[in-house]
Amino acid sequence: MAEALILAEALISVLLEQLASITIQQVQQQVKLVVDVKKEVANLTHNFQAIEVVLKDAEERQVKEATVKLWLDDLKDVSNEMEDVLDDWNTEILRLQIEKQEKEAGNALDTTKKKVCLCIPTASFCYGQVGRVIFRHGIAIKIKDLNEKLATIARRRQDFNFQYTKSATEHIERQKTTSFVDQTFGRVDEKELLVRKLLSESNPKGQSPLVIPIVGMGGIGKTTLSQLAYNDKRVQENFKDRIWVCVSDPFDELNIAKTILARLGGNVNSISSDLDAFFECLQKSIEGKKFLLVLDDVWNQDYMKWANLKLHLQQKDAVGSKIIVTTRKEEVARMMGAPDNTINLKVLSDENCWSLFAGIAFANSNQDECRNLEPIGRDIVNKCKGFPLIAKTLGGLMLCKKTKREWQDVLSSKIWELDIVEQQVFQPLLLNFYDLTPMIKRCLLYCVIFPKDSIINKEVLIKLWMSQGFLGSVGNKEKTMIDIGESYFNNLVMRSFFQNFKKDKFGDIKQCQMHDIVHDFLQFLTKNEYLIVEGKGGEARVKLPNKLRHLTIMFTIYPSPFSIDHCQRLRTITTFNCAISSLSREWILQLKCVRTLNLSHNLISEVPDEVGVLVHLRYLDLSENKWLQKLPDSLGNLVNLQTLRVGFTDVEKLPEAMGKMISLQHLDAKNCKRLKKLPDSLCNLVNS
Ligand SMILES: *[C@@H]1O[C@H](CO)[C@@H](O)[C@H](O)[C@H]1NC(C)=O
Ligand SMILES: *[C@@H]1O[C@H](CO)[C@@H](O)[C@H](O)[C@H]1NC(C)=O
Repeated sequence: MAEALILAEALISVLLEQLASITIQQVQQQVKLVVDVKKEVANLTHNFQAIEVVLKDAEERQVKEATVKLWLDDLKDVSNEMEDVLDDWNTEILRLQIEKQEKEAGNALDTTKKKVCLCIPTASFCYGQVGRVIFRHGIAIKIKDLNEKLATIARRRQDFNFQYTKSATEHIERQKTTSFVDQTFGRVDEKELLVRKLLSESNPKGQSPLVIPIVGMGGIGKTTLSQLAYNDKRVQENFKDRIWVCVSDPFDELNIAKTILARLGGNVNSISSDLDAFFECLQKSIEGKKFLLVLDDVWNQDYMKWANLKLHLQQKDAVGSKIIVTTRKEEVARMMGAPDNTINLKVLSDENCWSLFAGIAFANSNQDECRNLEPIGRDIVNKCKGFPLIAKTLGGLMLCKKTKREWQDVLSSKIWELDIVEQQVFQPLLLNFYDLTPMIKRCLLYCVIFPKDSIINKEVLIKLWMSQGFLGSVGNKEKTMIDIGESYFNNLVMRSFFQNFKKDKFGDIKQCQMHDIVHDFLQFLTKNEYLIVEGKGGEARVKLPNKLRHLTIMFTIYPSPFSIDHCQRLRTITTFNCAISSLSREWILQLKCVRTLNLSHNLISEVPDEVGVLVHLRYLDLSENKWLQKLPDSLGNLVNLQTLRVGFTDVEKLPEAMGKMISLQHLDAKNCKRLKKLPDSLCNLVNS
């Protein structure tokens, strides 16, 4: 699958940006951490760019060629390692900044504030100048090392004769639709609504023709609904001409116009050379005609293209012509039609979903067989979550399965492990997914750390993205990162990846959920990097996959229900419904790469000093640990920490050393009843 590629693609664009900003920072801060930085960075940039342009081709070929897949995996590993090293580098720059500030403050006030020191191996912080130099030297060596690895990977690409391409989307097969209906279930009410709109004589606001957008996720049945209405007898009688155009991508207004003209009996070939003449001919041919036009699967967001086509479909007399536009993107619907005409297609009701499934699955069965298999069948239908496409696909899958055993097997498998689902159901989602930019893809994929059905708080989600470095890097001010996060979130909302919104009184989205099917789909895309483990009591240890980066732990009382060796690369650990009571020092020390640590809602009473070595940490949630009384002073070492949550705990004071956490933007200490005052040093923080 495309997983390695998607992540490599997004990573590389992030890395390139980071490399650029590092060079700038070096100049601004007048620091020189690594010898010959400029040369190394230039070399790195060069290699990454060389690789970037062949990624799209690599994606297609990795499916068939194992060596290409290996190459991509290596690339992703190096990219990930590089990200960690660059983060070390940035951290070092931050520390220099802190030192400078402290020195200045010290000169001004001559305070005798004692510096907090954490002397554990790997913490370079307190080793004095010599230690620091050694540490920086280490970074330099790692960079050189990775540069060599990358150069090898860049060289290896030549063995594959990759094509240089820019866009991945063109390669994905888009199914062409026609006006032929292959399904008649499930959309009775929606069909009536649409037909009523089509038959209404007067168009609001004198629009002619009237545009009716149908919006919904891939697989939700937009095309089917349009087909049902298109072929309805009343509709057939109402419109003199009916034209079905499968648009897909790219939106070619000329081609669409040609199709329309051809369907209206015009001779397309004789006039194709002169555009004006052509459009004039189109306009003439629709004059006074009451037509229905379906533009199926529109992705185009370029208003000019649409405006151009619309202009030439305009009719002087309001004869009641209609245009149906189906699309997955709300932006498209908004651009093309009046919002009140839009039909938002939701999932099927349980009963409708069942009849759709049963109609196909039991097509060749006798009554006994039906009765026998119905209970299992109903459970299988639950997995469809109201998606007609999945109900149809699974119905087709069960059609030739006759034994209870076979049905049970399908029921007990994860939906995304069924090949047939991968091919047919995820295909439309995949199209929607590929249409996102690499950065937004990465953000969406990250949402799989939440267990199914979780309520996702938008603000928190954006901070999580920020903590993972998905919203741009160091140089950015937090405000702009949050703005970027907002725009990514809205983008995902518009494309129906989220649902069940809770809004505030201003109509802004506060919370959302992810559809089960989307969650399945994302799990399928990320199965090597993301994992949700459910500790089922006992001490049995789960062996974590080697490449794992993000871990969600559910239902456990142990902080490490898995073998420790494989935690070293983890960037996220989050617990849900756990009751962890203590954190072992060894475990903490393993989490060297962790960016995001959520230990909220546990029974933790003490946080070991060792957290101070987790220098990459950006998001730390210790809230709702009601026995937690004290935070270690070593927290002050977390110079990258952006968000700290200690609300609903019993802490009495926050460490004075927190004044050094210069990246801290959000401190949540709600309902800490015993917390009397914040440390003075916190006032040094500009943004708290
Ligand atoms: C980049 O680094 C590699 C490995 O260190 C080296 O072989 C290559 O010559 C360098 N290229 C440039 C342009 O400096
Ligand atoms: C952190 O964990 C708590 C408790 O499990 C959960 O409610 C919350 O949504 C989690 N937050 C994140 C950002 O994962």
